[in-house]
Amino acid sequence: MVEAIRSYHARRGRLSPRQRDALIELGRHYDLATAPDPLDLDVVFGRRAPRVLEIGSGLGDAALLTAAQHPELDYIAADVHTKGIARTLLEMEQQKLTNLRVLHGDALDFVSRRLTPRSLQQILVFFPDPWPKARHNKRRLVRPEFAAAAVRVLEPGGTLHLATDDRQYAQVMREVIRTRPELTCTHDGARVPSRPRTKYEQAGERAGRHAVDLVYRLEAPSDL
Ligand SMILES: C[S@@+](CC[C@H](N)C(=O)[O-])C[C@H]1O[C@@H](n2cnc3c(N)ncnc32)[C@H](O)[C@@H]1O
Repeated sequence: MVEAIRSYHARRGRLSPRQRDALIELGRHYDLATAPDPLDLDVVFGRRAPRVLEIGSGLGDAALLTAAQHPELDYIAADVHTKGIARTLLEMEQQKLTNLRVLHGDALDFVSRRLTPRSLQQILVFFPDPWPKARHNKRRLVRPEFAAAAVRVLEPGGTLHLATDDRQYAQVMREVIRTRPELTCTHDGARVPSRPRTKYEQAGERAGRHAVDLVYRLEAPSDL
């Protein structure tokens, strides 16, 4: 496990029997945490297609909508949140989505260690935990090792899309990504209208917090 400092909370909460069954039965087929290494995404999805990884997919709102609206994409929804992953699996089955998989586990470890270089067209990180207390700042997901891992797994021309409603964290994101000359900023400002609005974002808006979206493109190396 690469991540020594965890970017997530340990969350408790009972699963319903249906959620528990989904984690076991659907997870057996659709959770990449149980897929053998080396991970071959062409085998996992049964095809070659542009691939998207969402880190911190929560209840799966953005993942389910995007996978349904974009059957041409393969989508991986990653979270440590057990209930959220169970809900995503159940909805995925209900909607018969064939282009969605989950990763129930630490996405930073997944990106750093399990994905092969240049395997993703997009990395999405929507509303990562802001860890506002100074003594917790080091837990933020967007930190130098995350940026290095993102550069490794994105294909040239691929994008990293970050969104947060925490102004201070947005500034940290800018500073972290600025250290990677391979990434060019293509958007820094108001929410990108095409991004699905999650319940988390809606709750923030009701409390007067508005999203900042940051989008970066991985430049092709000059020797390609
Ligand atoms: C504030 S929530 C936002 C969830 C969702 N993106 C939304 O907008 O509703 C952040 C999520 O990131 C997840 N998370 C944090 N660190 C993670 C990691 N290293 N790997 C996977 N998920 C992580 C948490 O479990 C949590 O569900």
